[in-house]
Amino acid sequence: MSSEPLLKVSGVETYYGNIRALAGVDVEVHKGEIVSLIGANGAGKSTLMMTICGSPQARAGQVVFDGEDITEMPTHLIARRRIAQSPEGRRIFPRMTVLENLQMGAGLDNLKYFKEDVEKVFTMFPRLKERQSQRGGTLSGGEQQMLSIGRALMSRPKLLLLDEPSLGLAPLIVKGIFEQIKRLNKEEGLTVFLVEQNAFAALKLSDRAYVMVNGKVTMSGTGKELLADPSVRAAYLEGGHH
Ligand SMILES: Nc1ncnc2c1ncn2[C@@H]1O[C@H](COP(=O)(O)OP(=O)(O)OP(=O)(O)O)[C@@H](O)[C@H]1O
Ligand SMILES: [Mg+2]
Repeated sequence: MSSEPLLKVSGVETYYGNIRALAGVDVEVHKGEIVSLIGANGAGKSTLMMTICGSPQARAGQVVFDGEDITEMPTHLIARRRIAQSPEGRRIFPRMTVLENLQMGAGLDNLKYFKEDVEKVFTMFPRLKERQSQRGGTLSGGEQQMLSIGRALMSRPKLLLLDEPSLGLAPLIVKGIFEQIKRLNKEEGLTVFLVEQNAFAALKLSDRAYVMVNGKVTMSGTGKELLADPSVRAAYLEGGHH
């Protein structure tokens, strides 16, 4: 891969007060890739996702997206660069309907595509179509996850950030969501950077992956390489789904 990466995170340090959650992180995501980030609870995975989106901002290092330094850019301007995030814990708008949530995701400059894009999301997640007038907060956990991903897709992202898309979901739903991610990547060239507790599923899905420990990347490789690595197996895959 000789071309410039779509996303380049270099030496990033992020703090909560005096506590350093990211201790110099380097990560690259190239256009058209699915890249995953695995690691134990509290390793700093969500913090990295949020730092890419500018909240909290990195205190050291650099985040470059599509050739532009976004390290100190406000979150709403980063979103306009077409980085969409489906954050951990979903964070949909609970009092708005499914359809209204999707409208919020579309953003003003995408309104001309709204109908077409909503239909795409409904084809991907037929459950959302059935429930388009229901309030987000009354959806089941899995349905809220679908809505969160659907809302992120409505912005026609160049980069989709997914934080724990499988969290709390039944295996069959997880499988469906991962299949949809793969399909979007294959058919539409969507670039995806995802955080997952389900390391086995994530590594199987991904072109490349990073392992994070205590705010640092300790290992990287292709999904296949990491799946076969004894230390990864021992730490993240033993007793897992394989
Ligand atoms: N708002 C916050 N204020 C203070 N400390 C925080 C805050 N958010 C996260 N942290 C701390 O930063 C560290 C990294 O947290 P982070 O949420 O990034 O981990 P994670 O890898 O996503 O974990 P998990 O797998 O449990 O989601 C943790 O020690 C956490 O307690
Ligand atoms: Mg997290």
